[in-house]
Amino acid sequence: MPVILNPYRVVPARRNSEAEFYLGDCLELFKQLEPQSVDVIVTSPPYNMGVRYSTYQDTLTQTDYLQWTSRWVEAAARVLKADGSLFLNVGTRPSDPWTALDVAQAARTHLRLQNIIHWIKSIAIDHDSAGIGAGLTRNLAVGHYKPINSDRFLNDCHEFVFHFTPSANTNLDRLALGVPYQDPSNIARWRTGGEGIRCRGNTWFIPYETIQRRDRDRPHPATFPSRLPEQCLRLHGLDRIGLAMDPFTGLGSTAVACARLGLNFVGAELDEGYLAEAVERVEVAAAGRELPGRGAARMRKADLRPVTASSKASKASGA
Ligand SMILES: C[S@@+](CC[C@H](N)C(=O)[O-])C[C@H]1O[C@@H](n2cnc3c(N)ncnc32)[C@H](O)[C@@H]1O
Repeated sequence: MPVILNPYRVVPARRNSEAEFYLGDCLELFKQLEPQSVDVIVTSPPYNMGVRYSTYQDTLTQTDYLQWTSRWVEAAARVLKADGSLFLNVGTRPSDPWTALDVAQAARTHLRLQNIIHWIKSIAIDHDSAGIGAGLTRNLAVGHYKPINSDRFLNDCHEFVFHFTPSANTNLDRLALGVPYQDPSNIARWRTGGEGIRCRGNTWFIPYETIQRRDRDRPHPATFPSRLPEQCLRLHGLDRIGLAMDPFTGLGSTAVACARLGLNFVGAELDEGYLAEAVERVEVAAAGRELPGRGAARMRKADLRPVTASSKASKASGA
């Protein structure tokens, strides 16, 4: 028996755009959308790592999880336009580094992998390797990560953003994320320098935003900063986006990016508490106001607390 979802809320945003939120399973929402009706999907599904969400149980067997991944990506592929993009953010656990790659493999049956972007949450740059032009006076270490206590595994400072498309032929607006050439003589050498800027490449340093109180400012265990979807949307090309989607809306980071950019958005979320928060965030963004903590380069994330004596035991496995 098909389930008909009605919008939970429709929020007007900039440039006559709107954000349409559905409370329910994204598989039901996908069924309701016309084939080839969505330009861009930017999303982060549950990673199946036992994260404690309010409603969703993040503890499927690996087989069931990958079968479910294949089902929702197939549904996403049906609604994507022929020149559309699916930006799929997945992280891993240091002790289980295959997770994200397994997810990408599960998506492979339905879409082509056009780019792999590395979302860098934290980086250390040595002063002498940066070169004089960078103007560093000392070694630099920026951003935050979940510190682990392990003799075998490294602190995990990045996540994947897999860029899937229907035929690996989707044109991108590479210079929308352009960075200025450090050495102007390179402009002539590479002959790609539109107005002195070059393609940013596939390493994006985006730290989490600073928040004062986790429960109030980011009441969700696994969000990405709204700058991440914003960069994905800009890269796809804003003038080619009639409708953007996030099937796993969470607190609405993709919806917020759309509201700021004046893009139509549609999203689903299983948990009403998260969805209500997403609606509120989009209303704030649509009104041009700042969300708590936006714009700062430091972060606090509940699951990124410094390792304490009591948490050491549980992290000793490197998980
Ligand atoms: C990793 S979080 C997404 C966070 C989001 N990117 C953000 O920045 O707020 C995954 C979300 O998917 C939701 N979810 C899990 N299964 C779902 C389903 N079948 N349909 C819709 N939402 C689902 C969970 O409740 C959770 O909030």
